[in-house]
Amino acid sequence: MASVFLLFLTASLSSLSSLSALDQFLGVSYGTLGDNLPTPDHGIKLIQSVSGGAVRIYDANASILAAASRTNLRIAFQVPNELITSIAYNQSAADSWVATNILPIRKSRITYIYVGNEVLSNPTGANSTWEALVPAMKNIYQALQGQNLKNIPVGTTCAMDLIDTVFPPSAARFHSDKAGSLVIPLLKFLKDTNSYFFIDAYPYFTWSANHTIVSLDYALFRAKPRDYYFDYGTKLTYKNLLEQMLDSVVSAMTKLGYGDLKLVLAETGWPNGGDISEFGANVYNAAVYNRNLARILAMRKGTPLRPNVAIPTFVFALFNENLKGGPGTERHWGLFYPNETAIYPIDLMGRKPTGSYPPIPLPTNNKPYPGLIWCVLKRQQSWEDKVMIPELTKICSQGKNTCSELFGNCKFTHQSIASKLDYAINSLWQQFRDGGMPCYFDGFAEETTLNPSVGACLYRSHPIP
Ligand SMILES: *[C@@H]1O[C@H](CO)[C@@H](O)[C@H](O)[C@H]1NC(C)=O
Ligand SMILES: *[C@@H]1O[C@H](CO)[C@@H](O)[C@H](O)[C@H]1NC(C)=O
Ligand SMILES: *[C@@H]1O[C@H](CO)[C@@H](O)[C@H](O)[C@H]1NC(C)=O
Ligand SMILES: *[C@@H]1O[C@H](CO)[C@@H](O)[C@H](O)[C@H]1NC(C)=O
Ligand SMILES: *[C@@H]1O[C@H](CO)[C@@H](O)[C@H](O)[C@H]1NC(C)=O
Repeated sequence: MASVFLLFLTASLSSLSSLSALDQFLGVSYGTLGDNLPTPDHGIKLIQSVSGGAVRIYDANASILAAASRTNLRIAFQVPNELITSIAYNQSAADSWVATNILPIRKSRITYIYVGNEVLSNPTGANSTWEALVPAMKNIYQALQGQNLKNIPVGTTCAMDLIDTVFPPSAARFHSDKAGSLVIPLLKFLKDTNSYFFIDAYPYFTWSANHTIVSLDYALFRAKPRDYYFDYGTKLTYKNLLEQMLDSVVSAMTKLGYGDLKLVLAETGWPNGGDISEFGANVYNAAVYNRNLARILAMRKGTPLRPNVAIPTFVFALFNENLKGGPGTERHWGLFYPNETAIYPIDLMGRKPTGSYPPIPLPTNNKPYPGLIWCVLKRQQSWEDKVMIPELTKICSQGKNTCSELFGNCKFTHQSIASKLDYAINSLWQQFRDGGMPCYFDGFAEETTLNPSVGACLYRSHPIP
């Protein structure tokens, strides 16, 4: 008995690791929220030019799928969030989505199908999409069986905010309001169908929210032993933040009884630029993060909780995408500029030692900007009044006394719509920036370190004196 048991144990362990070894690759997320992006053929060639192993898209764009199908790239595509509720309660809608969207794809390349992106982190879906998620995944799975595509994992991407802490990983749990009703059915479906838990994990965000405790080197995979993190719960030592985050997910799944579910790192990366207030976002750090990521994945070492288990991974993103809203980093995740120039050279197979790349100028913004920052109307651009007036009205209706100075000290210096909007943008932003309001305002705004005050018309600065 004992020897049979041991045999069984060894067999299942080695099958886990050998299967996983086949699964190790670093792909690229092909986001398309830009008005200046190259054609899909060019986009796919760029992924090949950096030796990407896979492409992931956020919908089922037929031209990208067709272009990818002419290569050997693995392909992951997605039911867009908007379709989830209609697919969840209508099998023929799921059947027809699958039938239509697999047409341009070489079937052997279909690697994952996602149903929605970070659905459970989007509060607007609380009464609709959240509970439709697993039913929609079941219907898509069913539809694939109908097409004789039996082994394609169906999943959904989740963000780290589903988990309450990563300090330490052993304490991590799924937030209790979502664990029982939403996460458990999801994990059960993934396990029953031999799929994966797809997690988006960005050490950049965890580091920047905690930069006084977590060293930048630890986030960039180049920690010295003094930067390592020790988890007293498991007695495991972490050498980088990403593995700490991934093991938090494993630990949270284990507490719900799904400790053996495999992980895919569906998105990770580091921004190559951002607003003045977004310290640490620069080309140098982005290159170091993504190159080291590639190198570490190539070693197939797994994480401390799951040694030697490979983690298929997708770096976000292919291009800097100029139509994304929010803080500046949102428009700076790319490996390439829209004109197809590489932002920094990289080999996603991780074969090149980090030191062998040409040098990149050292960053100057790795610490929070020490001076004052204002948020104003973009300096190098002009708009017609009819475009600015609705924005001004919208901004002045928010916050407390946001525009009162436009009738006070700023009355005479600020008569044009542009100068009113300039003042209003800053006035609103200074009230809410600590709560995370980005200096964006539908693309009208940018941060500046030059005091925009004119005479008695004072622009508030931060911190408020
Ligand atoms: C597919 O993606 C390409 C490249 O970004 C874009 O030009 C095209 O409009 C997209 N097609 C659809 C139907 O969204
Ligand atoms: C279900 O989906 C099919 C195919 O898309 C559609 O024709 C039908 O109207 C849908 N039924 C309902 C009740 O929405
Ligand atoms: C969801 O429904 C509850 C109760 O009906 C309501 O209080 C809540 O505001 C709704 N949430 C959203 C995001 O619509
Ligand atoms: C920052 O660190 C603290 C304690 O170390 C932790 O409680 C908190 O969740 C962390 N914040 C983020 C955003 O990770
Ligand atoms: C591509 O765009 C980047 C960023 O705007 C610019 O620095 C670079 O010079 C451009 N390259 C070419 C070949 O035009």
